[in-house]
Amino acid sequence: MRPMSANAPQVKRVLSGIQPTHDSFHLGNYLGALRQWVALQESHDAFYCVVDLHALTVQPDPVALRKRTLASVAQLIALGIDPEKSTLFIQSHVPAHNQLGWVMECLTGFGEAGRMTQFKDKSQKSGADRTVVGLFTYPILQAADILLYQANLVPVGEDQRQHIELTRDLGQRFNSTYAATGATFTIPEAYILKAAAKINDLQDPTSKMSKSAASQNGVIEIMDAPEVNLKKIKSAMTDTGREVKFDEKEKPGVSNLLTIYSALTGKNIADSENDFDGKGYGDFKLGVAQVVVDYFAPVRAKALELLEDPDYLNSLLKIGADKANEVAEQTLKATYEAMGLIARG
Ligand code: TYM
Repeated sequence: MRPMSANAPQVKRVLSGIQPTHDSFHLGNYLGALRQWVALQESHDAFYCVVDLHALTVQPDPVALRKRTLASVAQLIALGIDPEKSTLFIQSHVPAHNQLGWVMECLTGFGEAGRMTQFKDKSQKSGADRTVVGLFTYPILQAADILLYQANLVPVGEDQRQHIELTRDLGQRFNSTYAATGATFTIPEAYILKAAAKINDLQDPTSKMSKSAASQNGVIEIMDAPEVNLKKIKSAMTDTGREVKFDEKEKPGVSNLLTIYSALTGKNIADSENDFDGKGYGDFKLGVAQVVVDYFAPVRAKALELLEDPDYLNSLLKIGADKANEVAEQTLKATYEAMGLIARG
């Protein structure tokens, strides 16, 4: 048996991150990941970060990035992340992410990184010359984000499963390559809630809801005005037939809406179907729209209120950065030591 990692906490730890690439998070982010972030902060030592360094892979406009990073923090708090319970911070405020990222790059095979499906998809879309190296190393930085905090659990949507697998492989590889000083890293597990692991686009219900979708008509943004979301859900793509029935193969549009309805009301799928028994798709979509709009109206209001006081948000982020740096520096020190780097005298 290996000894527990030196830097491992008493209570189990959770870490996750989200990119500040848009003005608003979408419903997939919330149901697939952020809702679990909120729940897990009650039972775990939680570290949550806005991964601004990851967002640089798409060369965002600096003014927009600054605005979106703070808007992300405001949305996280409005959705229920409590900065007293969770360590909430911005990735670039903790230099150890890049430092451990380099270490992990030195352990990752070129082919291994090339097999990441998100990289393959994105690089295929833009072509080799327009694909930046940062996109290739993106999952390795993500592994560093997680391993730095000795996280046990990583709440994410299904699309991140492969990145968490890579993180596990790298952590295990490091621990066995540099075994003399004991296990440096805790090996994390993905925490993926089956029922909401993949929320789909309302207009293209076999593809995941995504910030980078060509059209935003099928993407429900939590910061959008209620009337915008009402309209989007009312014009969601439904399927042939008239019955409101969960059947992902035959009725992907209806099933996606039922998943959303069930997740937000807390009713199971059978009860959700029953709510629309004998009703047509029009009534069904209106019912789902009402639930979504009612759910997010107070969140949006709270986030807008928080954004009126950036000094307050920045003060919370400073506390978060201090706490995160403390843990991250300890892990980095142990990592360097295990590898034989000489500590600065
Ligand atoms: P990002 O910013 O793309 O998405 C944030 C979270 O939302 C989930 N998600 C979805 N879940 C269900 N259905 C969908 N349609 C949907 N769309 C997005 C994502 O799975 C994710 O959990 N690489 C990460 C960010 C990251 C990270 C980390 C995550 C960087 N470092 C460390 C965990 C741990 C990403 O791009 O997430």
